[in-house]
Amino acid sequence: MSTTYGTFPGARPRRLRTTPAMRRMVAEYRLHPSDLILPAFVREGVSEPVPISAMPGVVQHSRDTLRKAAVEAVAAGVSGIMLFGVPEEAKKDALGTAGTDPDGILQVAIRDVKAEVGDELVIMSDLCLDEFTDHGHCGVVDSEGRVDNDATLERYAEMAQVQADAGVHVVGPSGMMDGQVGVIRDALDQTGHEDVSVLAYTAKYASAFYGPFREAVGSSLQGDRKTYQQDPANLRESMRELALDLEEGADMVMVKPALPYLDVLAKVAEAVDVPVAAYQISGEYAMVEAAAANGWIDRDRAILETLTGIKRAGANMILTYWATEVARKLG
Ligand code: PBG
Repeated sequence: MSTTYGTFPGARPRRLRTTPAMRRMVAEYRLHPSDLILPAFVREGVSEPVPISAMPGVVQHSRDTLRKAAVEAVAAGVSGIMLFGVPEEAKKDALGTAGTDPDGILQVAIRDVKAEVGDELVIMSDLCLDEFTDHGHCGVVDSEGRVDNDATLERYAEMAQVQADAGVHVVGPSGMMDGQVGVIRDALDQTGHEDVSVLAYTAKYASAFYGPFREAVGSSLQGDRKTYQQDPANLRESMRELALDLEEGADMVMVKPALPYLDVLAKVAEAVDVPVAAYQISGEYAMVEAAAANGWIDRDRAILETLTGIKRAGANMILTYWATEVARKLG
C-alpha cells in the first residue's frame, strides 16, 4: 500500500537531494576560484609578517611575503588581489600625503606585485586616505572637524594617478565621498590611464563589522564614519548611490559588507549591467573564525555557505580573506 501526503502525492523535492551526485547535478550556483579576490595588507618597514589578532590567519605582510601571497593566489586560480598599505606611524599626517607619495608603501606594493605576477592577477588598490591620515578619517578634515568632501576629491584624484602610475589595473575608491568616481575617472583619463578601471564601492555601510580592519591597518580613527558611509537602515539610498556611480563612469560596482546586506546586493545585481562585487569584510571573517575556534560551528562548511550565499544573492566577484584557501579547495 502506498503512502500519500497532502494533495500532490507526486511532488517530492527530496528526490533531487538523495545522493551527492544528484545534489551536485541540480546545484544552481557553483563557487569557482575565479569568483574570488584576495584583500591583502602590506606594512611598511617590517621584514616579517605581523599577525592581526582579530583576524586569525591574516597578516600584515612584509614586501616579501606579499609577493609570495600573490604567487600563491595565482596558483590557486584567484582572480584578483586588493591591496591595502599600512605606512609607518611617523609618516601619517592630516592630508595623508604618504598615500600620494610615489614611493609610499601602497605604490611600492603595487609595483612589487606587478613585477612578480604581471597581468596574471588583476591588481587592485584601495583608494582611500584613512590608512594614511593621522586622524584616521577617509578624507581631509576641515577646521570644524568635518570631512571636507571636495578637498578630499582633489586628494583622491592625485591618489588615482600615482596608483595607476605604479601599474594598478583597478582602483577601488572606498571613501564614500560624493563625486569620487567621476573625479577619479577624469584624473585617470587625463594622465593617460584610460585602461585603468574603477571598481566603485557603491553601497558602503557604516558597519560595526569593520572592527578588525582597524587593527589590520593600524587605524588612528576616533569616532565613526557615519557622515560619509551609509546608514544600515537604508536600502533605497543604495540605488541612488548606484545611479550616480554609473553615471560617473564606474566600470564595476560593489556592496560592502556582504552578509548583513544580501538584500542590497540582490537589488543592485538586478539593476545593473556591469559586474557586481561583494566584500566579505574583516568582521565577517572574524565571526566565523572565532566561532569555529570555539568549536561552535564547522569552519569549512560555514565559509563555503557564506560565500555561496553571497554568490546566490548576485555577486560576480567576492572579496574574501579566505580567497586563496577556498580557491585551493575548489580547484
Ligand atoms: C577604507 C576601507 C575600510 C575597509 C576597506 N576599505 C574600512 C572602513 O571603511 O572603515 C574595511 C575592510 C574590512 O573590514 O575588511 N579604506
